Amino acid sequence: MFSRRLVKHVQPDQLLPRPQQSSTEHTAPTTQSFVPEAGGSVLVMLTPDRASGTVTAQVQDPRLPALTVTDQGVTRGDGIFETLMATPGQGQDGAGFHLRKSAAHLARLAASAEATQIPVPSEQDWRDGIAAGLGVFAAGNPGRAAVVKLVATRGPEAAPGGGHYGGGLDAGGLDSSAPSGPARVEQLTGTYWALVSPVSEASSHARETGLKVLLLDRGYESGVQERAPWLLLGAKTLSYAVNMAAMRHAKSQGADDVIFTSSDGKVLEGPTSTVLMARRVPRADGTQGVELITPLRRNGILPGTSQGVIFAAAERAGWELGYGPLVPDDLMDADGLWLVSSVRLVAPVTHLDGVELTVDHELTEQLSAFLAEDLDPGSHGPVD
Ligand SMILES: Cc1ncc(COP(=O)(O)O)c(C=O)c1O
Repeated sequence: MFSRRLVKHVQPDQLLPRPQQSSTEHTAPTTQSFVPEAGGSVLVMLTPDRASGTVTAQVQDPRLPALTVTDQGVTRGDGIFETLMATPGQGQDGAGFHLRKSAAHLARLAASAEATQIPVPSEQDWRDGIAAGLGVFAAGNPGRAAVVKLVATRGPEAAPGGGHYGGGLDAGGLDSSAPSGPARVEQLTGTYWALVSPVSEASSHARETGLKVLLLDRGYESGVQERAPWLLLGAKTLSYAVNMAAMRHAKSQGADDVIFTSSDGKVLEGPTSTVLMARRVPRADGTQGVELITPLRRNGILPGTSQGVIFAAAERAGWELGYGPLVPDDLMDADGLWLVSSVRLVAPVTHLDGVELTVDHELTEQLSAFLAEDLDPGSHGPVD
């Protein structure tokens, strides 16, 4: 039997945990004067204000509560996200940071919003929120690069457009005519935020030491995206539990990462990265060129922004480019294999299913330089 004395009625303001700062002062949860300690993160909630018709960016301490437990991003993984890198000292995107590949990321966020029918704030609202977060981040982390994670969820279960749990199609949110993409403020029924955090050291470690990778079956055949678009395979949704389980499986086998294959044996992508492979090819004039290949997008993979800008620069440098289909033997025979993504950047694969691969440092450096050029990905971009 539970003792009645164990039951406490807690007022909402008592639920706020104390921030673990050296200060003995309790920081208000939504103060604009919040500055993170060194190594700390900054949360910016983007809140639609119906009265003014604008979206406000509210800087907060991310260690304090910010979401309702009925938010469908939490209860169903029903939301979308983007992860961007911001490097200090180049000043192109406000707050003295260069927000790398920002147009490509925001275009992919809009495409994910379209695919999931989640209404999202305008590109400018996101940019304003990111700039506010980066400014505060820099005050606590001077000179440090940041990871910027943008999230949009379908919002609380009972919200209009939110789809009440168990309420069926008529309860809203499951209506296919619901607004999607950049929406007017009154249509913004989701939950929106940007989280600005320091780049972890694990990202540079993967670049320097390379990756041992396992090939794992994703369990879908390569034509599934067209046949079952509700799987949302080309959208960047919050439902990453399967991807994280694959990573844990790889770790339990002594590997660092994963390349998924389709059930009919095509190479797809990593759980958080795009696959790139290179072949050195003889040119007609007797010199050697490079062919850079990535898996076929319509096989149900996320179009990578890193792959897009690398392809744009490689094309300008005269490399040959190809989109699969690829099979595991192509990867085994390659002159270089990499997993690329926005924060870990270009990480060479040293072993595939236990087989040691050719690692070409010159090509790795070249690909990293292509990524740093941050060209407009053009037709190689996430939305072409
Ligand atoms: C499934 C998946 N594929 C590819 C990528 C790489 O995308 P980007 O280069 O835009 O970071 C990611 C990034 O997180 C991902 O989650």
